[in-house]
Amino acid sequence: MKIINSIMHMQALAIAPEREGRRIAFVPTMGFLHEGHASLLREGRKRGDVLVLSIFVNPIQFGQNEDLDRYPRNMEGDCKIAEACGVDIVFVPTAAEMYPQGFQTGVTVRDIALPLCGASRPGHFDGVATVVAKLFNIVRPDVAFFGCKDYQQLAVIRRMAADLNMPVEIVGMPIVREADGLAMSSRNAYLSPSERQSALCLVRAIKRARELFAGGERSIAVLTRETRAVIEQEPSATIDYVEMRDGVLLQDQEVADSDTLLALAVKIGQTRLIDNTVLGEEL
Ligand code: PAJ
Repeated sequence: MKIINSIMHMQALAIAPEREGRRIAFVPTMGFLHEGHASLLREGRKRGDVLVLSIFVNPIQFGQNEDLDRYPRNMEGDCKIAEACGVDIVFVPTAAEMYPQGFQTGVTVRDIALPLCGASRPGHFDGVATVVAKLFNIVRPDVAFFGCKDYQQLAVIRRMAADLNMPVEIVGMPIVREADGLAMSSRNAYLSPSERQSALCLVRAIKRARELFAGGERSIAVLTRETRAVIEQEPSATIDYVEMRDGVLLQDQEVADSDTLLALAVKIGQTRLIDNTVLGEEL
């Protein structure tokens, strides 16, 4: 497994497989890898000849008062997981090389990036789309893997790749959860033991909504109210948003169907967690 820091070196390494018709599979991450990331890497291993993982805590997707400075890092642990998943190249660029002085280009995806996390984290998806576009130009993947854990991010990247005719297949992968249902996230490391317990209100709320939907409830107003009520029972939880929208364009809906997305962002203490489900899909 090669660890590459320089952009030029990474671009040079991507040329040979391209010429020889070998497929490059790519998993972009911000590191502190867990089983969710590993599931993407394992699928990448199956579907590509060369598997590239990037680890880059992308400063431009963090807001002013967000956790950029304390985002968890563990290069040694990440390399072990990468190795076990059969990664060929770990690309770890520096912020100085990704965003040199004078950098001034950005990618904006419009409507899909506006609600949900786009509303609570202004500029976030511009930062995500821009870095993913850059990474695609550096790694030149044939296929790239993203988790449905970040449902809106996946939708934004699919849109960007289609709109800008990027020659890459975007694959969405299911949410990987802990045994008790908590969606895996690098940010779970911030939670104290008692917050870790409180964090289960997200998956409880999701289960409640799914139960009501399975029982025939279709009113988004009722489903949303009941879902919020589950979170509101948890004293250390503060709702950022609890919303149901159509799962394709993320537009408002009044009547739920099996493609309806339930998306939640909830602060447990100081830690903002997100989770989601598509009502008609298996959990
Ligand atoms: P990061 O949060 O490290 O996530 C990297 C990828 O892993 C994303 O596609 C995310 O959806 C996926 N992932 C995270 N937790 C998951 C889980 N529990 N189950 C399945 N997949 C999961 O998302 C980012 O980094 C960044 O925004 C990035 C795309 C790298 C751009 O900077």
